[in-house]
Amino acid sequence: MKKTIYIEPSLIAADWARMGEEAKSCYDAGIEILHLDVMDGHFVPNLTMGPALVAAIRKAVPKMILDVHLMIYNPDDYVEQFIQAGADEITFHLEATEEVEHVLSYIRVTGKKAGLAIKPETTETLLLKYLDKADKLLIMTVEPGFGGQEFLPDMLEKVSFLRENATKLGIEIDIQVDGGINFETGRKSVEAGATRLVTGSHFFKQKDRAKAVAQYNELKAIGKLKK
Ligand code: DX5
Ligand code: ZN
Repeated sequence: MKKTIYIEPSLIAADWARMGEEAKSCYDAGIEILHLDVMDGHFVPNLTMGPALVAAIRKAVPKMILDVHLMIYNPDDYVEQFIQAGADEITFHLEATEEVEHVLSYIRVTGKKAGLAIKPETTETLLLKYLDKADKLLIMTVEPGFGGQEFLPDMLEKVSFLRENATKLGIEIDIQVDGGINFETGRKSVEAGATRLVTGSHFFKQKDRAKAVAQYNELKAIGKLKK
C-alpha cells in the first residue's frame, strides 16, 4: 500500500477559548490536516461546532486541510454551508441519510473529498458498495459523540476487511480511524490498513506537540512496509 499516513488532531479536544491559536499551534508542530467534529445533538447526544466556527478556523490556518466530520442527520442539508465555510473534505455517516450516493457525488462534484463513516455497531460490509464512490472511509473506533473514550479494538477487523477488499479491487482508498487514538492504537490501526489517524485527547494533552507529531510520524514507516 503506497498511501501516506496522516495524523489529524481533532479540535474537539482543543482549548475552545483559543481555537485559532490551537489550530496554528498544530500547523507549527507540522500537522497538515485538522479534523473538525460537527455534532447536531440528535444523531449523537452532543452539540459542537457549525459553519461559523469552521470559517473562523479556515481564516486562522489558510494553508491547512480542514476535514469536517458530520455527525448529523440529513448531512446534505449542510454540505453547501460547510463548503462555503472552507471545508476541504466532508465525511458523513451511512446511518444519517437514505441518499448516500447522492451526498457522496454532491460533495465530489464541488471538488471536495467525500468520506463515508460508520458507527461501531454498523457492519463494515455495508461500505463495500461505496469503495469506488468515496475518497475515504471513516471507521469510528469509539461511540461517536465525545472525545476521551477508550479505543474499541474490535473495530480493527473492519479496517483490515475493508483494506483487503479495496486492495483486491485495486482501489487505494483512505481508511480513517477516529476515537481513542494514541501512539499504540495508532500503530495497530496502521498495521490493520488505516491511513488517516484522528487523535483528540491524546494529542492535545501532550506538552510538546512537535515531539508528538514526530512520534506519530514514525508510524508512516509501517504504512510503507505494508505490501
Ligand atoms: C467522537 C469524536 C472523537 C474525536 C477524537 O465522536 O469524533 O472520536 O474525534 O477524540 P479522542 O481522540 O479523544 O477519542
Ligand atoms: Zn471525528
